[in-house]
Amino acid sequence: LTAGKCPQIDAARVIADLRELDRRTGGPGGARRLAWTDEWREARALLGELLSQIGISSDRDEAGNVWARLEGDEEPAVAIGSHLDSVPSGGWLDGALGVLAAAGVMRSWVSSGQRPPRSLALVDWADEEGARFGHSLFGSSAFSGTFDAPHAGELCDQTGQRLADVVAADGVDSRRALEAGRRRARLGCYLELHIEQGPVLERRGLRAAAVSGCVGIERHRCRFIGQTGHAGTTPMTSRRDAGLAACAAALELEQIAVRCAGTATTGSLTLRPGIPTAVPGEAEMLVDVRHAEAAQLHVMLQAVLGAARAAADTRRCGLRVERVWGIAPIEFDETLVVLAREACAEIAGSDFALRSGALHDAAEVARVLPVAMIFAPSRGGISHAPEEDTSDADLTAAIETFDRLCTKVLISRGPIAERVA
Ligand code: GLV
Ligand code: MN
Ligand code: MN
Repeated sequence: LTAGKCPQIDAARVIADLRELDRRTGGPGGARRLAWTDEWREARALLGELLSQIGISSDRDEAGNVWARLEGDEEPAVAIGSHLDSVPSGGWLDGALGVLAAAGVMRSWVSSGQRPPRSLALVDWADEEGARFGHSLFGSSAFSGTFDAPHAGELCDQTGQRLADVVAADGVDSRRALEAGRRRARLGCYLELHIEQGPVLERRGLRAAAVSGCVGIERHRCRFIGQTGHAGTTPMTSRRDAGLAACAAALELEQIAVRCAGTATTGSLTLRPGIPTAVPGEAEMLVDVRHAEAAQLHVMLQAVLGAARAAADTRRCGLRVERVWGIAPIEFDETLVVLAREACAEIAGSDFALRSGALHDAAEVARVLPVAMIFAPSRGGISHAPEEDTSDADLTAAIETFDRLCTKVLISRGPIAERVA
């Protein structure tokens, strides 16, 4: 079987499905598919509708990941997918592109009447974003076996609700989430399509690129404890202002990231009591530190924690640090990345691979299976924002490139087939 004899994806249909998802779960304020909410369930209901139109049933594993299988001539299956959840005011494509393109790959095989040479397994990972509890890759880490149930279950959102209780409302027992790993046995590799969420492809004029791996991340909560006092009567010289300690630390993190050629983000800063008439006696900051190399990530983290300590000391504040979540950097599978580059060259006319600064379920899956990813460009490099966008022409090229990669893996013989078998 050659790629030319295989069915080809209907990219326009995938884009239409993405627009329908946006109509149901997005709007002017952006995507609203925060995991474990009604909008997320609505997005998954749409996926269920699309799959049943195709004629494929789906089920859920112990971590709340949704799976759908299309049987082929050979096992194990090629897994394809991404995540339907979004950050609270997110973009229409982050995650959704990969899931609906995966559905498109399934649709093309079913409607052609051809049986795929190898089985396909679609997956919609649960809570990739970690926007609410700070724990990214919930479902994919349960699948790969790195999920730390006792720690994760106790993580709380801004309103004090525990992760374990919230996921239970969706029928997920976080203590049993690791049982999702049983699905590994029937899978040979994992392929994911995603938007880049950064500026590289657009700057280089590329319509698709291969992804070589993902950066590592350390995510910590730093709580500065000073003394709350009256805003009008507490002398400037005798304050123990926890808010200013946190701000000083945040500014220092920026310098550390620049020095170390990584990224450091203070994405959340909460001051208490949080009124204009009181010196903040408490400040809580959530810090996300990223680097492509494990050793450098460690160096950066030590510098960040040192900066937080110094800022606390300068303002006579206490400091409590808690590790929320982290992941080591990872390289994707060399053989599959080469195939991904070939697909880019054949369909999008360019052969380029880059490392992802954004996190993906693929980073967890790559710990247990050979993995490759394809990126589509992001307009202005913007993501995790309502303005996130990609032109239809670029989406079409990237969707067709991903489809070509899937085909290449499905029909592969020899070393690649052995790699995924
Ligand atoms: C998710 O998109 C992340 O990069 O954290
Ligand atoms: Mn994503
Ligand atoms: Mn995201």
